[in-house]
Amino acid sequence: MEQTFLMIKPDAVRRGLIGRIISRLESKGFHMVAGKFIVLPEDLVEKHYQEHEGRPYYQDLISFMTSGPVFAMVWEGDDIVNLARLMMGPTDPEKAAPGTIRGDFATRMNRNVIHGSDSLKSAEREIRLFFSEDELVRK
Ligand code: CDP
Ligand code: MG
Repeated sequence: MEQTFLMIKPDAVRRGLIGRIISRLESKGFHMVAGKFIVLPEDLVEKHYQEHEGRPYYQDLISFMTSGPVFAMVWEGDDIVNLARLMMGPTDPEKAAPGTIRGDFATRMNRNVIHGSDSLKSAEREIRLFFSEDELVRK
């Protein structure tokens, strides 16, 4: 079964959106197999977003992502990497259609509520970065 890494960002945690976001993923038929509620250490966020280093938004991204707790998760389901990205909508909430998570809950690119792996390869890397093997539930 395919797995992806999803993370509810500090803006969404602050606004009390954890439940509604999880509910959408559950309604779709996906299953959470790991989750942790944590304030991320800076070095972990830097590793996670390493390909963005040097971009104009990078410093804001790192300080935003360490500004409060996130809910980091591993989810499982058919074609979940692709389908979770579709449910999230594009990076820029202004381009995200109503019905998508970013389309419904966000207006700004730098406060866009949720992270989701963009490929199977990223999913594997990100899951390994945030979780140890024994933190994933075995059914
Ligand atoms: O999150 P996603 O994979 O959709 O987008 P990304 O291009 O991988 O960018 C990672 C994150 O950097 C975004 O989700 C935004 O939080 C932030 N970002 C930003 O603040 N301004 C940009 N112009 C591009 C990205
Ligand atoms: Mg990305």
